[in-house]
Amino acid sequence: MHYHRAMSISPRDLLAALSADRAVSGSELARTLGVTRAAVWKQIEQLREIGAPIAAAAGSGYRLVWPLELLDAARIAAALDAPTRARVGIDLHWQIDSTNAELQRGAARAGARPLRVCVAETQTAGRGRRGRIWQSPLGGNLYFSLLRRFEQGMGALAGLSLVAGVAVIAALEDCGVSEIGLKWPNDVLARDRKLAGILVELGGEFLGPCHAVIGIGINLRLPESTRARIDQPAIDLATLTAADALPSRNLLAARLIARLAAALDRFESLGFEAFREDYARHDLLDGRAVRIAAGGLAHEGIAAGVDARGALLVRHGRKLAHYDSAEVSVRAAD
Ligand code: BTN
Repeated sequence: MHYHRAMSISPRDLLAALSADRAVSGSELARTLGVTRAAVWKQIEQLREIGAPIAAAAGSGYRLVWPLELLDAARIAAALDAPTRARVGIDLHWQIDSTNAELQRGAARAGARPLRVCVAETQTAGRGRRGRIWQSPLGGNLYFSLLRRFEQGMGALAGLSLVAGVAVIAALEDCGVSEIGLKWPNDVLARDRKLAGILVELGGEFLGPCHAVIGIGINLRLPESTRARIDQPAIDLATLTAADALPSRNLLAARLIARLAAALDRFESLGFEAFREDYARHDLLDGRAVRIAAGGLAHEGIAAGVDARGALLVRHGRKLAHYDSAEVSVRAAD
């Protein structure tokens, strides 16, 4: 009797068999995983194409460029308190088009749990704000979305995207990250560069039952090749924290769930007003000279916080303008 070696392996199993501490040879991997060396080689190439941090050392095999903690739904759930765990369903994907798109597709189905979370190791069509692409290489960053239902209709959700920003800051702070702030409406910045982005998408009725999908992308480790494809200054947590203090992605996902669940409950009953002070504490634009692009026009002024609905306030001479939706850039000091 002889064995047929499988021709393909799960990319996750292969990645889990690699280490950052030592190189593992192709033949050792083939033996451990019960496949041919050719199958190992092919899968390594495919993993590298989607951004996996695998270095090939001539003669000695393959090694991870950094230690990798794979996403694990059980570990995320274990890090939640019991009441939150009971409210949330967590879906983990190895690869998906977009975690936001996935929750939108499922939104019509009545979920068993009031909150749904979708996380993925990589996205093939990650969505950014204003139709941009969110670069989503595998094996380092966090791609996370949460779906929350609301009874009172989309009309009551002004300010929600700012609330999400406040919750993301709190979750990062829970994981020991400091000196971060918000650029209206909800870009998370550190050292004036983008650390995390948030995309809120609404569905349902304006006056009746509706839902919000809150998508969050956090840069933990940005490979050089990805950085080159991003059209704005970006930063990752590995740059901000000491090597041994990089937050666990599973723990960070759990803190996002906990902070968002609590913030959305509070927002549902009290509205944005209850978050205005919190937002102000993290507002990086306040008092800065800004350029606003809204409705095809550009205006310059001084940012002056947000109003009770979360609209951006900008002083143009003696006039105070409220912007519900606009693209803001900070003007260089002259
Ligand atoms: C931005 O442009 O700043 C928003 C980026 C949001 C990216 C996240 S990654 C997880 C979720 N799924 C997506 O397709 N987009 C969001």
